[in-house]
Amino acid sequence: VKPTVSKVKAPKTTSNAPREKNGIKIFFGTQTRTAEDFSHILEKESKKIGIPCEVADLEGYDPEELKDESFVMFLVATHGEGDPTDNAKEFYLWLTSEDRVADLNGLPFTVFGLGNKTYEHYNSVARVMDKRLEDIGGKRVFERGEGDDDATLEEDFNHWKKKMWPVVCEYLGYELKATEEEKFVPRFRMINVDKDGRDIEESHVRIVSSNPVTKKSSDKKIIYDIKNPYLATVVENRELHGLESDRSCKHIEFDVGNNISYSTGDHLGIYPLNDSQLVQQLLQRLGVDGNHLFALVPRDKSGNIINASLGPMTLERAFTEHLDITNPPRKSVLKALSEYTADPSEKQRLLYLSSEDGNEEYNQFIKHDFRSIGEILSNFPGLKPPIGEFLELCPRLPARYYSISSSPNHKNGIISITSVVVNFHTPTQRFHNGVASTWLSNLKVGDKVPLFVRESHFRLPSQYYSSTTTTTTTTVTTTTTTTTPPPIIMVGPGTGLAPFRGFLQEIHHYQSSKSLEISESMLFFGCRSENVDYLYKQELVDYTDKGTLKDLTVAFSRQNSEKVYVQHKLLEHKEKVWNLLSQGAHFYVCGDARNMSKSVQQSLLSIIKEFGQKDENAAQKFIDDMSSSGRYLQDVWF
Ligand code: 2AM
Repeated sequence: VKPTVSKVKAPKTTSNAPREKNGIKIFFGTQTRTAEDFSHILEKESKKIGIPCEVADLEGYDPEELKDESFVMFLVATHGEGDPTDNAKEFYLWLTSEDRVADLNGLPFTVFGLGNKTYEHYNSVARVMDKRLEDIGGKRVFERGEGDDDATLEEDFNHWKKKMWPVVCEYLGYELKATEEEKFVPRFRMINVDKDGRDIEESHVRIVSSNPVTKKSSDKKIIYDIKNPYLATVVENRELHGLESDRSCKHIEFDVGNNISYSTGDHLGIYPLNDSQLVQQLLQRLGVDGNHLFALVPRDKSGNIINASLGPMTLERAFTEHLDITNPPRKSVLKALSEYTADPSEKQRLLYLSSEDGNEEYNQFIKHDFRSIGEILSNFPGLKPPIGEFLELCPRLPARYYSISSSPNHKNGIISITSVVVNFHTPTQRFHNGVASTWLSNLKVGDKVPLFVRESHFRLPSQYYSSTTTTTTTTVTTTTTTTTPPPIIMVGPGTGLAPFRGFLQEIHHYQSSKSLEISESMLFFGCRSENVDYLYKQELVDYTDKGTLKDLTVAFSRQNSEKVYVQHKLLEHKEKVWNLLSQGAHFYVCGDARNMSKSVQQSLLSIIKEFGQKDENAAQKFIDDMSSSGRYLQDVWF
C-alpha cells in the first residue's frame, strides 16, 4: 500500500527541544478492542493531569501527518504470526517501508505492545514500530512496554503506565497529579430513543449509529472487513464427529456470492451472538426491559445529528450482538463496578480485586475461576450499576477467527470452516458454552452470519497461485507450464486439519485442470480414534486415491493403549521427511500453539540434527532459515 501524496508542512520544532504543549495523540492498533480500551484509559488519565489528549484509530490516519504531531503514543497489538492488526496494517506498511525517507524530526513517542507469549513473534509489531520510529528520527521519551495476554496483560499495562506518566509529564512540563481515576467517570450517557432513532426528550435530535463509512475498491465493490462485515447465508451445517464421540465438530459452509474473495489458507472472522438465555438472565438481573430502545451517546453532545457509540437499538439486541458477557472482566471493569454497590464490604472486595495488591486474588477468583460478568453480579447482590454505565463498562464482543477449510477454486462463492464446539465446567461449576462455536453449531441453513476475511501468510508455495496460465483465443491455445512446486509437509491434528482441506482442494483444482504438475505431499493428521473424530476421512482417502495427496498418516491417540501424536508419527517417517526437506519442502503446522506446535518443532529439529548431521544450534538455524524464507509456516492458536 502506497502512502497518499505527501503534504509538505513546515516542521513545528527542531529535533531536540520539547515541542509545543499541545497534547498527546494515542494511536491504537487493535483486533479485539483491548488496545482501544487501554487508549481510552490513558486518555482519561492524561486529561486528569491536564494534558490535552486525543485517541485515534490507525486506520484512516494519513501517516504523512505524523511528523507534525506533538507527542504520540502507540498501543499496538501483534496478531498471529507477527502481523499488525487489520486497522494498523496500512500504517505499519508505511512505517516499515524500506525506501521511506521520512524524518520525524524529533517527534516524541512511546509504545506499548499487546501480545501473547504463546506465540513465537511475541509483540513483534510493537518492537518493530518502536525501533523504526527511532530510526526515522523520532525521540523515544519512555521505553516500550509489553503486555502478555496469555497471563498478565492488564497488570503489565498498569505497571508500564505507572512508570510512564512521571517521565512523560516531566518531558512535557506538566505537574504529575495522581493519574489513576479514583472514580469511574462515564464518557457516555444513555438516552432513550423512539423507533426512528430520535432522542425522546429532544425530538429534533436524531441519533445515528456509529457505523464506519463503507469502503469501496477501485472497481466500486464494497469492501467487507472487521468494521463492516458481510451478512453471509449458511448453506450447510453438518456434524463431522462419529456417533461414538461425546463432542461435536461442525463443517459449516457460507454463501458469500461474489461479495468476498479469499485465498486458501486465509482466516474467517465471525461475529457470533450471545446465548439468549444468558442475555435474558442479565437483563433481568439489571432490572431492565429488553425491548427498551436506547442509544449511548457522548456526554458532550452538540448539533442535531449525533453519532452513538452503541445503538440506537433495543437493550436485548445490544446484549445479544455487541457486549462480551461471558469472558472474565478486566480489573478496570471491577473497579468501575465498585462505584455501584451500597454494601461497603462488596465495595471493598471489588476494589481489592482490582488493585495491585489483589493480583493473586484476581487471578484466582476471576481468571482461574473464569467468572463471567453475570456471575459477578450474582456474587455481589448489592451491585446495582445503572444500565447506561453498565453498557459503557462492558467490553465489546470481539470477532472470532477460524481457519478457512475450503479453496475458492473448489466451490465458487462458498467459504467453509471446521468448528469444534467448546464447552466446559468452570471451577465454580458453571457450564460454559463457547460463545461462537455453540452459536455456530446451532445455525440452520438460511441463517445469516456477519463475517469477513482476514488475510494470512499460510499459503501453498507460490507456484500454485501463479500457475493458471492457459489462454484460449479463437485461433490459438497457449498453455504455459510453470515450474513444479516444491513438496509440502502438512501437520494438523484436530481442527488443525482445516486449512489443509483447503490446500488439497486447491491442489486438486490444478491437478484437474492439468495446469501444474503435482509434487510430493505428506499430511499428518491426529485424532482420538477412527470412529470418533476422524474429520473428513472419506475426502482424505479420496484425495490419496487420486494422487492429490501422496502420503496420508494418521496418529490415533486413544485407539490403542499408547498415546500416539502427530509428532511421534513425524519421527516414524523421519527419513522421508528429511528427504522432502532436502528437496526444498514447505513445512506447515496448524492447531494448538501451547503444546502441539512446540512438540512438532522438536521432532523436526531432531530429524534435521540426525540426517543433516547438525548440532542443536545449526539445526535450529536451519528451521529459522526455513521460517524466514517462508518455508516453515504456522497457523496456530491456544
Ligand atoms: P488426546 O486428546 O487423546 O490427548 C486432536 O485433538 C488430537 O490432538 C487428539 O488426538 C489429541 O489427543 C491430540 N493431542 C492432544 N495433545 C497433543 C499434543 N500436545 N501434541 C499433539 N497432539 C495432541
